[in-house]
Formats: sequence, C-alpha cells, structure tokens
Amino acid sequence: SKRWILMTTAQTPTNIAVIKYWGKRDENLILPINDSISVTLDPEHLCTTTTVAVSPSFDRDRMWLNKKEISLSSDRYQRCLREIRSRANDFEDEKKGIKITKKDWENLHVHIDSYNNFPTAAGLASSAAGFACFVFSLARLMNVKEDLGKLSAIARQGSGSACRSLYGGFVKWNMGKNDDGSDSVAVQLADEKHWDDLVIIIAVVSSRQKETSSTTGMRETVETSKLIQHRAKDNRRLVSELHLIFLILILARVQSFRIIGCVEKWNSAEGSPQAAYTFDAGPNAVLIARNRKVAALLLQRLLFHFPPHPDTDLDSYVIGDKSILK
Ligand code: PMV
Repeated sequence: SKRWILMTTAQTPTNIAVIKYWGKRDENLILPINDSISVTLDPEHLCTTTTVAVSPSFDRDRMWLNKKEISLSSDRYQRCLREIRSRANDFEDEKKGIKITKKDWENLHVHIDSYNNFPTAAGLASSAAGFACFVFSLARLMNVKEDLGKLSAIARQGSGSACRSLYGGFVKWNMGKNDDGSDSVAVQLADEKHWDDLVIIIAVVSSRQKETSSTTGMRETVETSKLIQHRAKDNRRLVSELHLIFLILILARVQSFRIIGCVEKWNSAEGSPQAAYTFDAGPNAVLIARNRKVAALLLQRLLFHFPPHPDTDLDSYVIGDKSILK
C-alpha cells in the first residue's frame, strides 16, 4: 500500500575551525589545499535538526529549510543524495508491514525538513551543520552501514567544512592525496571530554546573509592572493596567522575590529593569552576562552563595551561548549 511513511530525525552541531580550510584544489569534489582542524560545538545553540521521511506516496524529492521550501537541484545536494542512495540497504519493520529493498530505494522519494537554530548563511558555518545533518539523517533512514569517516567524505561534497561536523570534540580534516577524494576525510583528534571547560563565545555582529559566499571568496583568494601559496605549504602556524590577515580584511566590519581590540588589550593586560579570536566567512567574531571563569569575565567585558542596544550593531552573543552528535 502507499499509506506508510518512515521517518527519522537527527541533530548535528556546527564546528569552528581553528586552522581554517580555505581554497579548493577540486571544486566539484570539494578537495581542499590544506588540512584543517576544528572544534565541534554543543548542539544547544548552534545546530541543525533534520527530519527525513520516505513514503511511496511522495512523487519527488523535496526539501524545506527553516520552513521554506528550497530547491534540491544544486550539484551539492544531488551528489550527497546520490552517494547515500547508492549505499542504501534493505529495511524491514514486520510489525508495521513495511519492507524496503535495496532496489526500492532507487525509486522512492524523500522529504527533508531542516531547521537551523541560528542565522543561516551568515558566516556561522550553517552549511557545516546543515550538510552533516543532511547526510547523517539520510544515511540513517536508508540503513546505510558506512562508518563516520566514509560519511564525512560524502558530507564534504555538500560543504567542505561539513565533514568535520560528523564528530564531536576536536576534529581534523585530512586534505588527502587521491584525486577521487576517498582519503579526504575527517578524523576525531580528541573527544568532547578533552578540555571540557573550553568555552566558545560567538559575538553576532550581523546575522544578515553574508555578501560573499565562501566558494567565491576562496576562488578569488586562490587566484589573487600571494599568501595562499604559503598556506598550501604544511606550515601550521603560518597557516592560521595568514588566514586571519586576509579574511578579516575582506569580510570584517568596524565592530569586528573593535572586538579584536578588546580581546587583545585584555590579553596583554593579563600578561598571558586568556582568550583567542577567529573569524569564518563573515563579520561575526568567534571568541575562545580557556575556561569558564575567563569566559564569564570576557562576556562581562564585551557587554560593557558593546551593550546589546539598538545603537550598536551587535545582535547578540551565543555561547557554546564543545559537544557531540545527538
Ligand atoms: O564549508 P564552506 O564551503 O562553507 O567553507 C567554510 C570555510 C571556513 O568556514 C571559512 C573555514 C573553515 O575551515 O571552516
């Protein structure tokens, strides 16, 4: 009968890179020109929740993002869907009388309902959480038996940074050497219990959609930046510093610079680094505090200098701990 519907829900947090991925050696497969390392946040403040459903009554694949229907026609979605579908396995629920064979999955359509509990495409790595959740939830629905490493290589083809969101804690994305991307996968360096009082504060300078997509930004910097050649060399220290230089120049705003100034002034007054800052493809400052006490003091300071007031451009603060998939 056409009356059944099978569904599953997954939740995936976003991640913040401390050594950034910036620049692709293959734009289709999304293969990077350097390794990157990130921290996965707890899902409470910055995560995607995705419900996927399958039913013989669905006549085509459809997706809703934050309650609005969006097109699944882009290569990124199609690639992930194809990769997951091709690995689908038999499923049977005797009680409900549902039986889906490997072959059936090829003709069954899915409905995907995704929701971000934070601003989408504002440089808060929404695509990281989004594509990780897209791949993870579909894999679960279709009874895919691949390990997280393999799933990370699929999520990578949706959005590069998404491959790192499949693990909690501290995660490395190996750039890999193969042309087919099979070794360009994420690995967990340390789980979420490691450095468990690390606190990440995100100062939302603007929740508007970013003007430059990371793909365009990467393409332009790879073509025009002299620094990018140095990034491609395996010099980690240089890698993270150079990144800050060019990203901030392109994407930051006055408020972003003021927040940097505030953190730097405080660090030098303390005599040792208490907090670090980083930016992704947008003006929102990501502040990393070494422990909860430092985080509380930092927040007090930020609220003093940048009170949440209509005159300031600062939308809000989001605080996250590291965490894992739920
Ligand atoms: O995954 P994308 O295409 O959204 O690229 C994101 C790149 C940065 O967030 C700026 C850096 C990173 O490593 O996450």
